[in-house]
Amino acid sequence: MAMLKGSAIAFLVSCVSCYLISVPSLASSDEFLQCLREKIPSELVYGQSSSNFTDVLVSSIKNPKFFTNATVKPVCIVTPSDASHVQAAVLCGRKLNVRLRVRSGGHDYEGLSYRSACPYEVFGVVDLAKLRAVSVNQSESTAWVGSGATIGELYYAIAKNNSQVAFPAGECPTIGVGGHFSGGGVGMIMRKHGLSIDKVVDAKLVNANGELLDRAGMGEDLFWAIRGGGGGSFGVVLSWKVQLVQVPPTVTVFSIGKTLEQGAIDILTKWQDVGPSLPSDLNLKVKVQGQEALFMALYLGTCSSLVSTMGEQLPELNMTSADCRSMTWLESAALSFTDMSSTGTVEDALLSRAPSMSIFTKGKSDYVRRAISKDAWKSIFSWFAMNGSGLIMLEPHGGFMDTVPAAATPYPHRCGVLYVIQYIVFWQGDGGAPATTWLAKFYDFMGHHVSKKPRQAYVNFRDLDIGQNPAVVDGNVSTFESGKAWGERYFMSNYQRLASVKAAVDPTDYFRNEQSVPPLLHGSK
Ligand SMILES: Cc1cc2nc3c(=O)[nH]c(=O)nc-3n(C[C@H](O)[C@H](O)[C@H](O)COP(=O)(O)OP(=O)(O)OC[C@H]3O[C@@H](n4cnc5c(N)ncnc54)[C@H](O)[C@@H]3O)c2cc1C
Ligand SMILES: *[C@@H]1O[C@H](CO)[C@@H](O)[C@H](O)[C@H]1NC(C)=O
Ligand SMILES: *[C@@H]1O[C@H](CO)[C@@H](O)[C@H](O)[C@H]1NC(C)=O
Ligand SMILES: *[C@@H]1O[C@H](CO)[C@@H](O)[C@H](O)[C@H]1NC(C)=O
Ligand SMILES: *[C@@H]1O[C@H](CO)[C@@H](O)[C@H](O)[C@H]1NC(C)=O
Ligand SMILES: *[C@@H]1O[C@H](CO)[C@@H](O)[C@H](O)[C@H]1NC(C)=O
Ligand SMILES: *[C@@H]1O[C@H](CO)[C@@H](O)[C@H](O)[C@H]1NC(C)=O
Ligand SMILES: *[C@@H]1O[C@H](CO)[C@@H](O)[C@H](O)[C@H]1NC(C)=O
Repeated sequence: MAMLKGSAIAFLVSCVSCYLISVPSLASSDEFLQCLREKIPSELVYGQSSSNFTDVLVSSIKNPKFFTNATVKPVCIVTPSDASHVQAAVLCGRKLNVRLRVRSGGHDYEGLSYRSACPYEVFGVVDLAKLRAVSVNQSESTAWVGSGATIGELYYAIAKNNSQVAFPAGECPTIGVGGHFSGGGVGMIMRKHGLSIDKVVDAKLVNANGELLDRAGMGEDLFWAIRGGGGGSFGVVLSWKVQLVQVPPTVTVFSIGKTLEQGAIDILTKWQDVGPSLPSDLNLKVKVQGQEALFMALYLGTCSSLVSTMGEQLPELNMTSADCRSMTWLESAALSFTDMSSTGTVEDALLSRAPSMSIFTKGKSDYVRRAISKDAWKSIFSWFAMNGSGLIMLEPHGGFMDTVPAAATPYPHRCGVLYVIQYIVFWQGDGGAPATTWLAKFYDFMGHHVSKKPRQAYVNFRDLDIGQNPAVVDGNVSTFESGKAWGERYFMSNYQRLASVKAAVDPTDYFRNEQSVPPLLHGSK
């Protein structure tokens, strides 16, 4: 294989779960392209030799780590403008044994929507960027949104003419609806309205047989699985029907930093129990970076009422009316998720789709069910004194989140969870080793203080360190047993039901990636 250069061999050696049994012939990728071009307008199909291939590939890559010469790239990219193109791509792929990866917003932390961890994998990408319409039904207060829309586009479309309509989803406007809804959708109004998946009422999906199905057609098991079971396992979700939610015409935000000298550790220690039990109109999240804790709030109400709530619940923060910023919910959705600052117009922040190719990142996650002790927080701050290239974001659950049974959706981190921790390290250029090494050691240390058996994780903060499927090999299926390593951490007791749904809808494991849900086949585990 021409693709297999020195760097790829080095990569293979470090990729222990990758092994070779048969090399897919290059003929199959040529035939695949030919099949696609017979059924899909040729200007929507980009082979590797197309002069636009790289531009299209890069268009939504968010982490330059997965755009190097050694990155295992697709043999082609299809940019469907109609559901029939997606159906055709699946049928060509099935016929010629070429797998597809689906990309909506390209934010996957491990790049699984457009690259493979295995140097031998031949695959195509279906990029849904053109399927991004948002159509609002005001009388029902619902919207159909294409998977290729960003959540910023969704926010804008529903709220630009009505400041009292909102939707619960994530805090970074460029995230794609398709991947985000597939994994859950954690965000600033989840304590009041839940995750994105809690408000999905219908969907359209192309399954592994190339059939286009809505909720009634796919049945309740599959409809359950696609709302939180992680992207890339059950088919290609083209669009989602969501129930919109009501918010007041103005909301209030603040962000208050506390250094160690200003009592960061005491306040943070107390916050762990206070944050998850605050009124559900109020979300108070915390970022720890360097030697500072930054407390950031979104309140679905007025400043005066926020000041009095904070005075009762967490007086140590000394929050006053001078900290309040009032704005529409839409304006709040355009604020930076790391410090709640605003730059540029709401349109710039919510509608820009520019790729971001300068900052390299690695992420991980944990859930906390029992407050971490003050002494442990002291140690945690000493980890941040060692290296300044990382941060943790703590997002409280509670409120609406506690009212949803753990088995109601595949997202199991509900009642009893105090907060989710997101770890992020970032760097520029080649110097990633110190940051990722620091993160790995810090994560080991944190294992003593977070949920155990299993140590929980959030599928949308995807982390291949916790395990992956064996490499794609002709005729091989990944197993339920091996998938437990990450499946039970992402989905806990919902993992088995997900694997059963997978066996029913995709028994030959066509939709597979490094962490897709394996089929639980009858008689084999
Ligand atoms: C900067 C940043 C901020 C983030 N902030 C938040 C946050 O606030 N809250 C939160 O919950 N998460 C957050 N995330 C995580 C984010 O929710 C996930 O990365 C999500 O999967 C991204 O969706 P996407 O469509 O952009 O990604 P993609 O990379 O396109 O897809 C992710 C996965 O889903 C699959 N997939 C994509 N589209 C479809 C589809 N239509 N049908 C089936 N499978 C599909 C892909 O194959 C891939 O496996 C953040 C990520 C980043 C990079
Ligand atoms: C392909 O690239 C050419 C020039 O680089 C550009 O003019 C054209 O619009 C591109 N087409 C698509 C579909 O991106
Ligand atoms: C990547 O490949 C291009 C062209 O083959 C080459 O010019 C470039 O130096 C390579 N970059 C690295 C970092 O190896
Ligand atoms: C909006 O929903 C109502 C009630 O279900 C329905 O009657 C109407 O046709 C819908 N409007 C559009 C434009 O789809
Ligand atoms: C909705 O908002 C758009 C853009 O802000 C504006 O052009 C349009 O007139 C508004 N429509 C209504 C009905 O308010
Ligand atoms: C903050 O509040 C505490 C009591 O809640 C008080 O002791 C302290 O002086 C206040 N600090 C500032 C800077 O106002
Ligand atoms: C912190 O970073 C430096 C380089 O930036 C590295 O040499 C050092 O090993 C790192 N410390 C830890 C504890 O990882
Ligand atoms: C499938 O993968 C397993 C390892 O997970 C390996 O032991 C087995 O030989 C493979 N089977 C086939 C048919 O390739």
